Amino acid sequence: MDVLRATSTIATALAAGVTEVYPVASLDECAALGRAHGCVTAAERDGVAAEGFDLGNSPFELLHEDFPVRGRSLAISTTNGTRALLGSLAAEAVVCGAFLNLAAVAEFIAARQLDVLVVCAGWKGQFCLEDTLLGGALAERLLPHGCDISQSDAALAAHELWQNARADLPGYLLQSAAVRRLRALEANDDFVFCTKIDSYPEVLPLWDGTKLVRG
Ligand code: MLT
Repeated sequence: MDVLRATSTIATALAAGVTEVYPVASLDECAALGRAHGCVTAAERDGVAAEGFDLGNSPFELLHEDFPVRGRSLAISTTNGTRALLGSLAAEAVVCGAFLNLAAVAEFIAARQLDVLVVCAGWKGQFCLEDTLLGGALAERLLPHGCDISQSDAALAAHELWQNARADLPGYLLQSAAVRRLRALEANDDFVFCTKIDSYPEVLPLWDGTKLVRG
């Protein structure tokens, strides 16, 4: 999960009718998928849209009427989110979580009763508040389904943090490094959009072995 913004953008892409998403590590791979397979390309480095691609990493770019993405494939490369995703592919099942699709992710996990490893993308290897809060919110949703977080201090801490933030998530996150970064990039609207809970309750980006599709 990378709330600000990779997994929020991926969920938005699938909600907007993108058929499949190829997360890739390098800008070269992203460009190559655009050239060879006609994918829409989205690329971001250090919060800024990388040059030479169709889109950056703002969810709003997937919703523009003047650049329709419905029915198309998307190749995306971001600083942290796609990296975290590609590092998680050994798991039995991989899904992308965001506040936007929290219900879909919780439902998927609750139905399977699997052990869950929440991978918080963070920022360049560092802890971040927004992904941890999403982990806490997910724990909250799973507790009534018998999920046991007592063996993980990380899960307990995330759940505790969520209790402090839940009444005003956007307000709580104003102190976070990611929000300060986005505001400096004049992308505050992205932050507001990505902290909406359950805007896409049925959108589950699910890894099918080569790409993300709607589960
Ligand atoms: C990332 O994957 O590094 C983030 O989503 C960065 C961003 O969009 O600002």
